[in-house]
Amino acid sequence: MSSLIGNNGPRYRHQANTSVPYETIAIDKLTPILGAEITGADLSRPLGNQQMAEIQRALAENLVIFFRDQELSPERHLAFGRAFGKLHVHPAAPHAPGHPELMIIRADKDSPRANGEGWHSDVSCDAEPPMGSILYITTCPPHGGDTLFASMYAAYDALSDRMKAYLDGLVAVHDGEAAYRGTYANLGVTDKPVYPRAEHPVVRTHPVTGRKALYVNRGFTTRILGVPRDESQAILGYLFDHAENELFQCRFRWQEKSVAFWDNRCVQHRAMWDYWPHTRSGFRVTVQGDRPV
Ligand code: SIN
Repeated sequence: MSSLIGNNGPRYRHQANTSVPYETIAIDKLTPILGAEITGADLSRPLGNQQMAEIQRALAENLVIFFRDQELSPERHLAFGRAFGKLHVHPAAPHAPGHPELMIIRADKDSPRANGEGWHSDVSCDAEPPMGSILYITTCPPHGGDTLFASMYAAYDALSDRMKAYLDGLVAVHDGEAAYRGTYANLGVTDKPVYPRAEHPVVRTHPVTGRKALYVNRGFTTRILGVPRDESQAILGYLFDHAENELFQCRFRWQEKSVAFWDNRCVQHRAMWDYWPHTRSGFRVTVQGDRPV
């Protein structure tokens, strides 16, 4: 893990945002860097225009937002996702019967693995990777099963100026093959002949905030193009370790009927599978995104 302690205090200093107050929701930040619990919104009903705009702003300002005690039918979960854009269909994971856009998230005593156990940005192997993911957990283990989130703005900002200059203009391959082939066989999913593979800038600019975010992740990024293979491996190894530094993270403790909504363009996440043999389950709706630039 890279140390971010410089000779003169921390190398990463978060710039607190001084946003105008919210009127229809309240925000309780988990850390100064990312994550906020939102109260005042009932996602089981269509949202008014002002509340919708405030939730969008809360997401842009906090990168991942959380809601507690929500009653979400599959239809309402899908409708909430559609309010933010067209829905994405996962290239490999199983979905609820009759709802291809409602991905099943489940691990129990018979599972060989849990979804999203390593750090990643959802389906970054797609040419147009998802903008956001909305996870609704309905069954929690007695303890554990948290999800960790990390700000890729903070990860980028904390790089040295020399490293930023080196990464400028570089492109990396994101490959779904290793992540997906055989992964859902225990759930009866037959593998596709090919899985998505895409090339994306190593640093992307967020289309809403205009901020730069590091966009490589251990789950999907396999190679930086245009440099020797050993150099690519070494630089990616450094960037993965750096992106996973605890300083950029928050950790969400689930309760039944909690919702997490994260922005894949500037956040990585990983799910903790520390609760075997207990069950954790729910559904994820994923909102389509744009080609990273
Ligand atoms: C995922 O969407 O990667 C799974 C996250 C989780 O189950 O906490």
